Amino acid sequence: MTTATVPTEQTTSDQIAGASVKIAVIVGSIREDRFCPTPSNWIADQARKRKDVEVDLIDLADYDLPIVLGGNDESAPQPDPVTELGRRLAHADAFVVVTPIYNRSYPASLKNAIDWFYLEWQLKPVGFISYGGITGGLQSIDALRSVFTEFHAVPLRDSITFANFWETFDHDGRPVDTDRTSRHAEGFLGQLVWWAQTLRQARAERPYPFAESE
Ligand SMILES: Cc1cc2nc3c(=O)[nH]c(=O)nc-3n(C[C@H](O)[C@H](O)[C@H](O)COP(=O)(O)O)c2cc1C
Repeated sequence: MTTATVPTEQTTSDQIAGASVKIAVIVGSIREDRFCPTPSNWIADQARKRKDVEVDLIDLADYDLPIVLGGNDESAPQPDPVTELGRRLAHADAFVVVTPIYNRSYPASLKNAIDWFYLEWQLKPVGFISYGGITGGLQSIDALRSVFTEFHAVPLRDSITFANFWETFDHDGRPVDTDRTSRHAEGFLGQLVWWAQTLRQARAERPYPFAESE
């Protein structure tokens, strides 16, 4: 497990507040022939339109994460894919998790990636994009929101869902309803950036009051 980014002594509060927000967009499905890169690339492009944002598009298919998690010996070496992915997650100020719906929830590839890490997610905002049949995959988002609270992460209230997703993007990967989806993305990313800046500054200025919990 790598450690989350913390400010150095030289980093002033103003520098932290003014620095660009690093958003990691996570491509949650690793299935062959998957659709997931389409909405992931779309939201990454929307985020890149903002001058105050840097985007890191993280494709979980690029990481051969073991399905068997590490044991209790914290000094044991980590598998290389875990170290490499952990470095990218730790660097992020905020996450956009893009998820399909598999049997009324999110895919195992996402759960495995989430479970390999802890501090990397901690006290950071997480926005969700889902797609599916008639439900648009909303059940995946509901399940993920609950998971991310475990890390004291901040799941956004608003999300973006694509119901009957096969009708919502054209062959070039652009949403059919460009105006509506762009407006949604603008609002969604605005909230994500607000939380990312707010939490980054708060983490730098004062420790979070972790308490004993069950
Ligand atoms: C294992 C599995 C379970 C699925 N379960 C659901 C489901 O519960 N509801 C739904 O609307 N679509 C379901 N689907 C259809 C997916 O929404 C569709 O295959 C989609 O393309 C999956 O995303 P991906 O291609 O990025 O992996 C399921 C697909 C798979 C592979």
